[in-house]
Amino acid sequence: MTTKNKIKILILDDEKQFTEELSGFFQDSDFEAFEANTVAEGRRILNEQVIDLLILDVRLPGVNGLDVLKEVKVQYPAMEVIIISAHGDMDTVIKALRQGAFDYLRKPFRFIDIQIALERTQKYLQMHRKLKQMEEKNSLISKSLENKIDRQFIGVSPQIMEVFEQAMTSANYPDANVLITGESGTGKENIARIIHYSSARKDHIFSAVNSSAITETLLESEFFGHKKGSFTGAITDKMGYFEVCHKGTLFLDEIADMPLNLQAKILRATEEKVVTRVGDTIPIRTDFRIISATNHDIEERVERKNFRLDLLHRLNTLHIHIPPLRERPEDIKPLVEHFLEIFTTKLNKPEIHVAGGVFDVLRKYDFPGNVRELRNMTERAIMLCKGNVLGIEDFRVKSSKAEKVAPTDEEVNLKLNEIKMIRKALQNCKYNLQAAADALGIHRDALSRKLKKYNILVTRVEM
Ligand SMILES: Nc1ncnc2c1ncn2[C@@H]1O[C@H](COP(=O)(O)OP(=O)(O)OP(=O)(O)O)[C@@H](O)[C@H]1O
Ligand SMILES: [Mg+2]
Repeated sequence: MTTKNKIKILILDDEKQFTEELSGFFQDSDFEAFEANTVAEGRRILNEQVIDLLILDVRLPGVNGLDVLKEVKVQYPAMEVIIISAHGDMDTVIKALRQGAFDYLRKPFRFIDIQIALERTQKYLQMHRKLKQMEEKNSLISKSLENKIDRQFIGVSPQIMEVFEQAMTSANYPDANVLITGESGTGKENIARIIHYSSARKDHIFSAVNSSAITETLLESEFFGHKKGSFTGAITDKMGYFEVCHKGTLFLDEIADMPLNLQAKILRATEEKVVTRVGDTIPIRTDFRIISATNHDIEERVERKNFRLDLLHRLNTLHIHIPPLRERPEDIKPLVEHFLEIFTTKLNKPEIHVAGGVFDVLRKYDFPGNVRELRNMTERAIMLCKGNVLGIEDFRVKSSKAEKVAPTDEEVNLKLNEIKMIRKALQNCKYNLQAAADALGIHRDALSRKLKKYNILVTRVEM
């Protein structure tokens, strides 16, 4: 057994001779033993090592061993405890077992007693370890499964066929990073899954991570993992995304929003394919491929120094752009038919048809939410449909593009609110553009563009 796989035992007993003797017993075994003769020493070791089993003397001078047991069970819930009690102290034994001790040994004991107790514990601990590793993996898998694994690719337009070709090329180069761009709802994540499941990495994990959804303080530990005790809340060792995605694919969604300090670390990890967990020094080799996606103008982010150019170069070895749905109206009909099939089954509806003329109207609509919007629209239409034919009124689409581009009430409000906020910021900052941009939390150039867009005139007040 390698040192890494050994079960770690901490022996906490005030008699030095006893701890030494006992730890000697574990030499050349499947166990690695640590000794502590005071609670303080014990705590230090618990902090530094991932201890699997604590052998605890409950009769320590000056402290109540049962209190120590209670505390460590809260702090290290995965750790098992065997207590050592004095002969005839059955009361303590019962209390300890009730507080979560796994087993007990009565002093004086023979080594054979401890061997039997350990064999019992060992099997349990190994099982427990496996379970924990699986749980770690599963929590990430379930995250990526949240959106259901939807890997169907529908489309007949030359543009989407080209996207599909590029996806297949990307699948054939399983080590090349891929950047997918396209408006919201165009199917970026869908394509990322298709690439993964068509590549040599398909039997390993595909994990979708949206870094803008993780709090900034946790980002580093989520990506790189952490060592137990490296910060408050790090109660166990944890693998990060890079490590979990060994041999698989890490899908980085919305990369444009990634904080700059994390970008530097991600760049290094991608270049070296080596990560170090937070609070640890041991480098871990991991073989992952990154597929990233954004619906923002990433080049513009680079220009504004919000995104590192070197990282962009690393991420877009292969680049796939998915055109918006309005530029490929031929795809609307097959997509609607596909969604009809999905939702009639899911919603337990009879076969439903689409009335003549509906597709003509849909093809003229500009779909700001792209395929996702079409999918939601179809789902709603099926839910509300009384008979078995879907008319255009079920889709709630106005008949021409011109009408559709007319802003909705909400958009008007949003626009009016934005104008109001800009005017107020300008007033408050005495029409100093930089100060107003800072107050609004946007770049000065972005503010200038908005001023132009909304025809807001700026007359600087001379002081
Ligand atoms: N070509 C396609 N065939 C079948 N379904 C598709 C296709 N393109 C997109 N979809 C479906 O449309 C929905 C939105 O797709 P997806 O989540 O991949 O978009 P996205 O580009 O990642 O969006 P966002 O930018 O908002 O994250 C999903 O339900 C997806 O399955
Ligand atoms: Mg997405």
